[in-house]
Amino acid sequence: MMEVMENSYGNPSSIHAHGREVRTLLEKARKNVAALLRTAPANVFFTSGGTEADNTAIRSAIASFNIAHAITSKIEHHAVGQTLEMLEKTGVISLSYVEVDGKGNVNYQHLEELLKENPKSLVSLMHANNEIGTITDINRVGELCESYGAIFHCDTVQTMGHYVHDVTQLKAHFIVCSAHKLHGPKGVGFIYVNPALKIKPFIYGGAQERNMRGGTENVYGIIGLSKALSMAYQEMETHKQYIQGLKSYMMEKLSQEIPGILFNGETDADKSLYTILSVCFPTMEMPDMLLFNLDINGISASGGSACSSGSNIGSHVLTAIGANPDRPCVRFSFSKFNTKEEIDYTVEKIKEVYA
Ligand SMILES: Cc1ncc(COP(=O)(O)O)c(C=O)c1O
Repeated sequence: MMEVMENSYGNPSSIHAHGREVRTLLEKARKNVAALLRTAPANVFFTSGGTEADNTAIRSAIASFNIAHAITSKIEHHAVGQTLEMLEKTGVISLSYVEVDGKGNVNYQHLEELLKENPKSLVSLMHANNEIGTITDINRVGELCESYGAIFHCDTVQTMGHYVHDVTQLKAHFIVCSAHKLHGPKGVGFIYVNPALKIKPFIYGGAQERNMRGGTENVYGIIGLSKALSMAYQEMETHKQYIQGLKSYMMEKLSQEIPGILFNGETDADKSLYTILSVCFPTMEMPDMLLFNLDINGISASGGSACSSGSNIGSHVLTAIGANPDRPCVRFSFSKFNTKEEIDYTVEKIKEVYA
C-alpha cells in the first residue's frame, strides 16, 4: 500500500499513462481476490466494507428480482438485520425469522418449512456470528435455497481469510468481505456476485466497477485488501491450529480460575469460529469494572450483555439466544499475533476483578 501511495497517484478511470498504471494495479488486485475465491474477476466488486457489501446484496437482489419475502435470523449483524427491517417497515418485503437455538444454531428444518411456504425468497444468513462465533452450515443452507429457488446471501465477513471460500462449491449468490477482519485496511471490502444473477447497479453516478458501483475506487485500500487476503491464505491451516490452541487455552484457564463461568454460543472447534470467544461471567455488583480493568491494563475486548426486559440497550444476539442479562459478557478475539502469555495476563486481570 505504501509503495502505491508514494509512487502511483493516477486515477484508475483516467485514460492517460498515470491512470492506466493504477488501473493495472487495481485489476491485478481483483484478479488475485477472484482467484482465491475460484471465480472470474468480473464477479468481484470492491466496496467500502462489509456493511456496504451486505446492503448491496440485499437491496440489489430485492430490487432486481422483485423479491417480496426474505428469511433471516435474529442474530445477524445490523448491516443485514437493520437493512431487512427497514425494507419490511417500508412495505417492500415481508420478513420471516428462522429459529436459532440457545447456542445460535440455525434450525434447518424450520428454514425448510419457511422456504416451502415462501419459495423464491431472499435468504440472508451469516457464516459465523461476530459476537458468539457459532458457525452455520452454509453448504446446507445453499442446498436448501437451491431446492426452493431462493437467492442466498451469506455474510461471510467473519470467516473470509480464516476459512477457504470456494464459490465453485458453495451455493451462495452473494458472499462478502471486510478487509480489516483479516489484518487488511479499514474501510474497504468486496462483494462476490454469482454470475448467474444479473443485478441492477448498487450506486449510480459513475462507470467504476463495471457500472455497478459509481465512485472513484479506494485504490490503496483495495491493494491492501488483496495483499491481506493473499497473506491470510498462506499457511491458513497452521494459523488456524495455532489460534484454536489459544482459544482452547483461554477456555481452560477461565474455567479453572473463575467459578461459574459460561461460554456463549458453540464452543466445539468444528462449529465455532476459532478467532472468537464469548464469555459469560458470573454476576457482579459493578459489571462495567470488568471491561474497564481490562482496558486500563492494555487489553482490548468488547463487552455487552443481553437486553434486560423493557430496554433496548444490549446485544440483540445475546438476547436472541436467551443469555442472562444480569451476567456481563465479554468477547475476546484472537489472531496469529497473540500469545499464551497474553492470555495468562488477561486471566490474571480478570481474577483481580473477582478477588
Ligand atoms: C458479520 C459482520 N457483518 C458485517 C460487518 C460490517 O463490516 P464493516 O464494518 O466493514 O462495514 C461486520 C463488522 O464487524 C461483521 O462482523
